[in-house]
Amino acid sequence: MKELNILITGGAGFIGGNLIRKILLSTNFNIINIDNLGYASDIESINNFRDSNKRHFLHQLDLKNYAQVLEVVKKSKPDLIIHLAAESHVDRSLDNPFAFIESNIIGTFNILQASLNYYSNLSASNKKTFRFLHVSTDEVFGSLEENGKFNENTRYDPKSPYSASKASSDHLVRAWHNSYNLPILITNCSNNYGPYQFPEKLIPLSILKALNGEKIPIYGTGGNIRDWIHVDDHVNGILEVALKGNIGETYCIGGNCEKTNLELIQIICTILDQKIPMKKPYSDLIEFVKDRPGHDLKYSINTNFIENELGWTPKKNIYDGLTETVEWYLENKDWTSRMQKKSGYKGERLGKI
Ligand SMILES: NC(=O)c1ccc[n+]([C@@H]2O[C@H](COP(=O)([O-])OP(=O)(O)OC[C@H]3O[C@@H](n4cnc5c(N)ncnc54)[C@H](O)[C@@H]3O)[C@@H](O)[C@H]2O)c1
Repeated sequence: MKELNILITGGAGFIGGNLIRKILLSTNFNIINIDNLGYASDIESINNFRDSNKRHFLHQLDLKNYAQVLEVVKKSKPDLIIHLAAESHVDRSLDNPFAFIESNIIGTFNILQASLNYYSNLSASNKKTFRFLHVSTDEVFGSLEENGKFNENTRYDPKSPYSASKASSDHLVRAWHNSYNLPILITNCSNNYGPYQFPEKLIPLSILKALNGEKIPIYGTGGNIRDWIHVDDHVNGILEVALKGNIGETYCIGGNCEKTNLELIQIICTILDQKIPMKKPYSDLIEFVKDRPGHDLKYSINTNFIENELGWTPKKNIYDGLTETVEWYLENKDWTSRMQKKSGYKGERLGKI
């Protein structure tokens, strides 16, 4: 395979880290990683991974700083940019929307401008192959009725500061394509789970609460529906779109796996009952708590377009994926302790307003 320089933003986060490990494992590409190493980031698990010292180059900087971003983009001469850096937790966006506007909107603007500056000075042949992939979420489409699904033509209707900031970033990316011909692609993906996810998100938080014998909080009645995808499937989708997608196109990526929050937590409890049985079933720890303000009822993706265009499908069955994830958190308790210590986050409720 031709050796590529891939610039990844947010590469020390959950999805970025899984993407970088996959690239190191299965390609000969070089990776330039821009990350400010915020509370959810973990650079150690990339630094300790094979070939990282030869093919992974971290630039610890904030996307808010345009001059620094431009310098790294120009110097690293990327063939491909994959933009993942963002503030990513809805509950935190309710508490502190400012950080989301700065990272997700201003940050995206800066990486776009820097990419355009770099792209404009490329030779004609390098211009033909350069690509910029923006990784986004299905939350930009708002909330579905019980039987609905999002697709590439769904109207934007974001409801939280997080989803509104991501929607803004999607619009900026499309505008840089329409106005300046920057060769972009966009992916909108459903809820991810898997190893190395920061323990504020539903699945790792529930596993850790259960292991500590603490109450497992579920918002409202637990009836909110999400379409769960294993991070490996998302990472494969990102690479497929980045390398083979049509310029200017949007691809929706999903797990074809709708579950209510209650169903999901019950599956995790059953897995824990089998792995490390307690006197009582883990589901006895489930506690329904006051709902998240403005909680969207349902997100779910129709994956027909990406399946037909690129032949990508999600491969991991939710039961296998969750079993592996539970096993990973059981085997990596020191990782969770390190992340909690570094961030100061200990599992408390966020986003109550
Ligand atoms: N997690 C999901 O379920 C999911 C689903 C669909 C799309 N996405 C999108 O995928 C991307 C990655 O999500 P994640 O779950 O890995 O998030 P994450 O919070 O685990 O990682 C984000 C990374 O970006 C970095 N970052 C944030 N702001 C930055 C800034 N201003 N400058 C430099 N670095 C910065 C952080 O330090 C962190 O390493 C996000 O854009 C998110 O919107 C996530």
